[in-house]
Amino acid sequence: MKIEAKNQKLENSKCDALIVNLFEGVTTLSGSTGAVDEALGGLVKNIVKEEGFKGKLGSTLVIRTNGAIPAKKVIVVGLGKKDKFDIVALRKAISASLKCAKREKAKTISSIVEAAKASDLSSTDIGQAIGEISHLGLYSFDKYKSKEKDAPKTEIQSITVIENDSKKIKDLTAGIKRGVAIANAQILARDLVSEPALAATPTRLANVAREVAKKNGLKIKVLDRAACKKLGMGAYLAVSQGSEEPPKFIEIKYTPKGKAKKHIAIIGKGVTFDSGGLSLKPAGSMETMKDDMSGAAAVIGTMSLMKEIQPKVAITMIVAATENMPSGTAIRPGDVVKAMNGKTIEILNTDAEGRVTLADAVSYIVRQKPNEIIDLATLTGACVVALGDTACGVMTNNQAFAERVIKAGNETGERMWQLPLFDEDREKLKSDIADMINTGSKGKSGAQNGAVFIEQYVNDIPWVHIDIAGPSWIDKENEWGPKGPTGVGVRTLINYLTNYA
Ligand code: BES
Ligand code: MN
Ligand code: ZN
Repeated sequence: MKIEAKNQKLENSKCDALIVNLFEGVTTLSGSTGAVDEALGGLVKNIVKEEGFKGKLGSTLVIRTNGAIPAKKVIVVGLGKKDKFDIVALRKAISASLKCAKREKAKTISSIVEAAKASDLSSTDIGQAIGEISHLGLYSFDKYKSKEKDAPKTEIQSITVIENDSKKIKDLTAGIKRGVAIANAQILARDLVSEPALAATPTRLANVAREVAKKNGLKIKVLDRAACKKLGMGAYLAVSQGSEEPPKFIEIKYTPKGKAKKHIAIIGKGVTFDSGGLSLKPAGSMETMKDDMSGAAAVIGTMSLMKEIQPKVAITMIVAATENMPSGTAIRPGDVVKAMNGKTIEILNTDAEGRVTLADAVSYIVRQKPNEIIDLATLTGACVVALGDTACGVMTNNQAFAERVIKAGNETGERMWQLPLFDEDREKLKSDIADMINTGSKGKSGAQNGAVFIEQYVNDIPWVHIDIAGPSWIDKENEWGPKGPTGVGVRTLINYLTNYA
């Protein structure tokens, strides 16, 4: 798909679908929408009236032009109430209009962005939204569908963004470029999560990480079971011991040109399939557990953009990839294991495995003394209960740091909501025979129990834990894409690393 910003008379734009827009409750068509209406002899105005089109956010109306202008069809998209129009509304309008164009089998699209200009959005932000939504909103994963592969599919080939202020074309173009790049990084994450656990094994994750590192000129290290054992990663290896799939501990390093402002560690939970282990999950809960490496997918996706975005901070990415399986060699409830930093863990529930893998991932990175640690993990069902698939749960030992991450996330449309960590919840980690248990109080504060466990390993380094268990998988399509894996976290990390770090 080619997206370009151009100075063009929109009535003259030759395309399959020309997208114009209308605010809710507006009846006089002005500006570009008005110009198109005029060129069509008042057709738009008439059909809007006849069809009772109200301009509700995301609603669409298709008008055939019958050769009156070079565009074959005009799509009117509703922008919602003018005083409520913002970047979120803009993204929804872009998504709705492109999905409509796709339904209409349009290959070439032209669109105005005038309405967006009526708000205080910058041309760069508008461009970024177009770049992101055009790729993410129309995403589908049909690699394994034999039928649809054969059927010829109409794909949108080009989007021309019409802008008559030539000074703004530069900003729009830069925004589009950034948006498309970010979308592609998130698509890499989405593809990895969508891939069944049969294919997306720890070994496969390591291979994809190698490709990403190579393409971006980054250093990569992949530790196998023996190397991890040597380092004393008894916690991570305990999780992997029930599986036939070998674990892979993956580390990628990015160093900026010139002096790094700071060193940031980004860690992603990489459980490629979570059966629960001997504390086996019920069948229904297991159906989506190929997504338990969404954190890993997000950090790998983020690293795939390093060459393009060149952050001014040093970044170390860590993924302790493994499966969590039940077998004769699996870890048992009641077993005690030792993490790399010497702390012992009584495994009461083998389904609370993510935090156990993270104990070693965090212990490993702490030795390098990073300035900040961010971990992304599909850690708890409790967080899904609390925030649904709408928002990620954020927990921290450093409020100011968390606030910057939350802001970075919310700006990109990845909703972040903080949950508190209290000493009372830390108390619940006490074990009768080891340094800590891997659960907490049953059925209470589940998301925080996971966080205070990880906190035991961060050694007071500023740390933000993002529980992405909810938003990593959505049940209903939205402007960002179809139901299923979302690749959540990529946009937050990119925004944080480039603008807030
Ligand atoms: N991977 C799951 C968490 C999860 C649940 C992710 C639903 C996505 C959707 C995690 O490993 C897990 O099983 N957590 C347990 C912890 C409990 C045993 C203390 C949970 O949340 O039930
Ligand atoms: Mn689990
Ligand atoms: Zn898990």
